[in-house]
Amino acid sequence: MDSSKTIVLITGATGGIGFETASLFATIPSYHTIIGARSVEKGEKAVSEISSQKPQGTVSFVLIDVTDDTSITAAASTIAEEFGRVDVLINNAGIISRAPSLRAQLRETFEINTIGAAVVSQTFTPLLLKSSKAKMINVSSGLGSISQTLDPKNPYYKSPAEAYMMSKAALNMLTAYDTARLGDQGVKVWSFCPGYVVTGLSGTGEKGIQERIARGAKSPKESAEGLLAVVEGKRDADAGKFYTEGWGF
Ligand SMILES: NC(=O)c1ccc[n+]([C@@H]2O[C@H](COP(=O)([O-])OP(=O)(O)OC[C@H]3O[C@@H](n4cnc5c(N)ncnc54)[C@H](OP(=O)(O)O)[C@@H]3O)[C@@H](O)[C@H]2O)c1
Repeated sequence: MDSSKTIVLITGATGGIGFETASLFATIPSYHTIIGARSVEKGEKAVSEISSQKPQGTVSFVLIDVTDDTSITAAASTIAEEFGRVDVLINNAGIISRAPSLRAQLRETFEINTIGAAVVSQTFTPLLLKSSKAKMINVSSGLGSISQTLDPKNPYYKSPAEAYMMSKAALNMLTAYDTARLGDQGVKVWSFCPGYVVTGLSGTGEKGIQERIARGAKSPKESAEGLLAVVEGKRDADAGKFYTEGWGF
């Protein structure tokens, strides 16, 4: 591997925003993008789809389930062995839970959206510190904004997504915490809202996707462009903060 390449790891990159971001980054010759996948089958499929577009950059996958410490540690060891560092970590894996009770929804959602991101961030810190241009992006949501949640003019006012909103508010605290923890060691951290986009995130399959289209959700390709702008240094002035593009706030 060319040591001048920018090494990017994206968790949950076998579908939705993560996959579109990996596809876009793979068009850049100086990038190597590592797709975080929960199964070999999904990882191989994502790499093969991107490779079939004959990208100028390079792409591979690593197995990583953000709810499983053994999986996270193994992913970090594999990447350490193969690449020696991570320049950009995108904590993208996330869900909206459809569990039958609020308690179960909170547990399931926090486990992935918040606890998963925190443990990945901590486990990958030594690899980020090996980079001279380390960046970490926590894919958050406008729904995690406390001020927007209290604003009746917010188009998503009273969204029935308690567990998801709480998980993203806590993820925003991880951004602040890691900025304080790592900022003076050269690591820049953001919370990034990708906008309301057409993916399977609602957890209701094709019906949910059609609902998003009907409500005017954007393409996740636009979210990928927004993430690229952050990685390319165009949002350095917003490091440490919650940054949203095109959400309408
Ligand atoms: N879509 C939106 O409008 C929107 C708006 C604001 C913020 N976001 C945020 O954007 C991020 C990506 O969401 P998306 O819309 O692209 O949803 P998506 O299409 O459902 O993609 C979610 C990805 O996360 C992965 N994932 C789920 N559980 C995981 C786990 N335990 N470990 C590792 N990976 C896991 C999924 O992999 P599997 O295929 O294996 O399940 C999938 O690749 C999320 O953090 C979400 O909260 C989305």
